[in-house]
Amino acid sequence: MTYVSRHKDTKALSTQSALRVFVSLWLMTAAAGWIVVFSVRAFSHETLTTTVLFDREIVRILNKHCVMCHTENGPSFPLETYEQTWLQGRKIRAETIARHMPPWAAVPGYGQFVNDNSLTLRETQFIISWVEGLGPRNSGTVFTNVVDSSGKPRTAVRAQADFGRWQLGQPDLTRDLNAETIDPGQPKQVRYSIIDLGLTAERRIRGVEYMPSDRRVVRAAFFTIQETGQWIGSWTPWHGFMELPAGVAIRLPAGSHIRAEIHYQSFKDRVVERGTLGLFFADKAATTTTADLVIEAKPDAAGNRYRAELRLAADMRAVALRPEIPPGVKSIEVSARKVDGGTDVLLFAKDFAADWPTPYIFKDPALVRRGTVLSVTSYGGPVKLTVSRY
Ligand code: HEC
Repeated sequence: MTYVSRHKDTKALSTQSALRVFVSLWLMTAAAGWIVVFSVRAFSHETLTTTVLFDREIVRILNKHCVMCHTENGPSFPLETYEQTWLQGRKIRAETIARHMPPWAAVPGYGQFVNDNSLTLRETQFIISWVEGLGPRNSGTVFTNVVDSSGKPRTAVRAQADFGRWQLGQPDLTRDLNAETIDPGQPKQVRYSIIDLGLTAERRIRGVEYMPSDRRVVRAAFFTIQETGQWIGSWTPWHGFMELPAGVAIRLPAGSHIRAEIHYQSFKDRVVERGTLGLFFADKAATTTTADLVIEAKPDAAGNRYRAELRLAADMRAVALRPEIPPGVKSIEVSARKVDGGTDVLLFAKDFAADWPTPYIFKDPALVRRGTVLSVTSYGGPVKLTVSRY
């Protein structure tokens, strides 16, 4: 009775009762806050039932697909420790679902490539489950953002980048490229350098590998023989070499020079970058040699479409494809129309990450019969395709 009658008496809200209303509203909000906190806690406890653990599944995914870029002294922020990864959880989930990360434009289900760095469906699901399950480190430990004061060094499981060594073993011949200076903030750019191999006689090689000296600034590298224009190898952060099947070799004529095309990214500091090219000699039995086929798509009658075809005069096996994709290209399809009428799609790629040009290196160089028509179709711009084949 008291409250209502007093209220009636004063007709209007007194300062005192206004204060009372304010306080009770505040208390209600605070209580609601606690309810939210409690329900989140209860909820988080439930969802911790994810069986995906950082120390087990996630660290393997990072090792296999991410740390070649996401590392100290790499092109992007590190995703090596539990804490680093936990703090990026939501973004990692979003970027991997959208297939922005890792960068890889080939649509699964067509050609199979040794340098395919995309996540499998299962790996993507592990990431989603881990992030949505609040990212447990191992059996039930979650990130608390509290510094451990025990002073004991903890041996934490972490992802580890594996570079700084030759993947194909010690090369038979190494050559340093020209030193390139990247000035602070200069736009991304492509630089060329010509390397004299000093060969007095013809040599055959079975593999080409590259090691940049500063991975923070190099996005991609392509190597061709200056004299013949033949493409012999390339480098991306996730796959630094090209190796031919047994019995197959690249012929380097005496006096050959290598033309290196290095794609640099913009960087905040001044960097002097000087990579090393490694060549691996083939043994005597490697008598089959490679050559290139080049197909350049031209504007087609249908507006935005570009296309070119080439009929094979002899049987071949394709080692790798190198599409040169100008900005604006939406998709590219490389297919082989066989004499019997069937068509194999060798590569279908779309949503290119312009910063990460890559070749597509076949897992098994398949036999393509003579008479087959190879075609390149692109939308949004003309693509030049180099096919390394034997
Ligand atoms: C080829 C190099 C490369 C690989 C491989 C790669 N990333 Fe990235 N990632 C980058 C670069 C470069 C950026 C741009 C961020 C920056 O400016 O540092 C980036 C950005 C991101 C971002 C932040 C996006 C944003 O909106 O800020 C996330 C999250 C990410 N990567 C997760 C991953 C995960 C997870 C993997 C592995 C499954 C992966 N990346 C593999 C190079 C790479």
